[in-house]
Amino acid sequence: MEKKRRVYIQNFGCQMNDYDVERMVEILRAQGYAACASAEEADLVVLNSCAIREKSEHKVQSAAGRLKELKAARPGMVLAIAGCVAQQEGARLLKRVPTADFTFGPDQIPALPSLLARFSDGRRRFSATDVIDVEDYAFLDADPEPGDVKVTALVTIQKGCDNHCAYCIVPHTRGREVSRPADEVVAEVARFVALGAREVTLIGQNVNSYHAIGTPDGDDFAELLRRVDAVPGLVRLRYTTSHPKDFTEKVAEAHRDLRTMTSWLHLPVQSGSTRTLRRMVRGYTREEYLRKLEHARRLSPELSLSTDIIVGYPGETDAEFDETLSLLAEVEYDNIYSFGYSERPDTPALKLKLKDDVPAEVKDARLQQVQALQREITARRLGRFVGRTAEVLVEGASRSGAGQLCGRLSGNEMVNFGEPADPSRARALVGQLIPVRITATRAHTLVGELTGAPIALALASPPRRLKVVA
Ligand code: SAH
Ligand code: SF4
Ligand code: F3S
Repeated sequence: MEKKRRVYIQNFGCQMNDYDVERMVEILRAQGYAACASAEEADLVVLNSCAIREKSEHKVQSAAGRLKELKAARPGMVLAIAGCVAQQEGARLLKRVPTADFTFGPDQIPALPSLLARFSDGRRRFSATDVIDVEDYAFLDADPEPGDVKVTALVTIQKGCDNHCAYCIVPHTRGREVSRPADEVVAEVARFVALGAREVTLIGQNVNSYHAIGTPDGDDFAELLRRVDAVPGLVRLRYTTSHPKDFTEKVAEAHRDLRTMTSWLHLPVQSGSTRTLRRMVRGYTREEYLRKLEHARRLSPELSLSTDIIVGYPGETDAEFDETLSLLAEVEYDNIYSFGYSERPDTPALKLKLKDDVPAEVKDARLQQVQALQREITARRLGRFVGRTAEVLVEGASRSGAGQLCGRLSGNEMVNFGEPADPSRARALVGQLIPVRITATRAHTLVGELTGAPIALALASPPRRLKVVA
C-alpha cells in the first residue's frame, strides 16, 4: 500500500480560520493525507494566516522563517501559506517568505488539490488569490469523520463582510458578504449532532446581517436561530460575532425563549466614545449600544457579556479613552478582548487619512489600564457563581491536568472540576450536561465539584430559562 502523506497545519486568527482548517483537513484526507502533530514529520505544511493586526502578520512570517532549516534538510517538503495574509499580500508574500512554495486565499480552499498538483508539476512558486463572485460562491459542506467531532462544533453561516469599519482589513481579505442557505446550515448542524456534537457555534463576521431566508420582517438571523434550535439532540447554541448596529430585539428575545440558546452574548463595542465610534465608522453611538445591552439584559438577567476594545485609535484623546473605561465600569462585562490600534493596508482609515497618531507608549499604557480594570470586573463577575450549582456541558480532560475534567457554563465560563475516581465514568460524562457546584475562581476560569448525576437532557422541551440551577 502507498504510504500516506502527512500534513501539518498551523493556524492563526479567528473562528473563520478554525473552520477553514477543518475543511482543509477533510479535502486533504480525500487526497490521501493524514494529519500529523509537527512540521518535522510532514510532507506538506500549511500556515493559515491572520492579517487583522501587524503582529498577527508577523506571526506567520516568523513561523515560516522557523521552517527554513527544516525545509533545506527536507527538499521534498511543501510549504503553503493560506488565509488572510496570503489573500492580502498575494505574490508579495512569496518575495517576503522565500521558504513558501505557494500561497492561496480563503476562496481557493476547494481548489487545494489542483493547487498541489500545479506545484508538484513544475515546482514553480505561485500565488492563488482569485476571489469567487458573490453569485457563484458555494459554501463547502463539512464532511467530518466521527473521530473529528468534538462536543462543541463550529458551523459557518456567512462569509465576508459588507461593513466598512475604518480600522478593519477583513472586508478586503474575505470579500463581500455572502449568507449560507439556511437548509445547509441546519443540515450541517444535524450532521455534527448525529456524530456526537452537543453545542454548535454559528460563525460569521457579522451574523446579525445574515440574509438567506427572506423573512417578512427582514430578521433572518433570528429565524435561523429558531430553525437551528429545533434540531433534535442539540443542547446548546451560540453565535459569534455580532455587530451592535444590527443586533435586533428578536435576537435578544431568542436568548430568552429558545430551548438551546445560551446566555453568552459577545457584542464588540470597540470604544466607549461616540466620537471615536464615529471615526471608526461603526454606525452606533455609546447610548444606542447601551440601550441594546440593557434591553437584552432585562430579558435575560443571567447573560454573560463579552466585547472587543481597541485603544489608541487615530485621534483618541485622553477624554475619549476615559469614556471607554467608564463604559467598561458601567456594563461590567464578564470578559473582554482588548487591542492597541494597528494600522492596516487597504483599510478605510487610510483613505480617510486617519493618522496612526497615538504614540506606542500611550497605547500600551491605555491597554494596561483597560486590562487592569477588567481583571477586577471579571473577578467580581466570576465570583457571582461561587457557592451556586450550575449546569456544565462537559468538553473533556482539563488542560490544567491533575485528572480534572472541564466544560463550560451556558455563559461560556470555563469550569475545571474533579473527575470521578472511575475513569470510564469520567469518559462517559463527556458531552453530558451535569450539575457542578462552583467552589472558587481563577483569573479567567472557575473551579468546581461534581454534585450529582447528569441532567436528563430535555431535548424538545419548552424554554429552559434557568441556566443556573441553584
Ligand atoms: N467582525 C468582528 C471583528 C473581527 S476582528 C466584529 O465586527 O466585531 C476581531 C477584533 O479585532 C475586532 O473586534 C477589533 O477589536 C480588533 N481589530 C480589528 N482590526 C484591528 C486593527 N486594525 N487594530 C487593532 N485591533 C483590530
Ligand atoms: Fe471588520 Fe467591521 Fe466587518 Fe467586523 S464588522 S469584520 S470589524 S469591517
Ligand atoms: Fe484574521 Fe482573517 Fe479572521 S484577518 S481575524 S483570520 S477573517
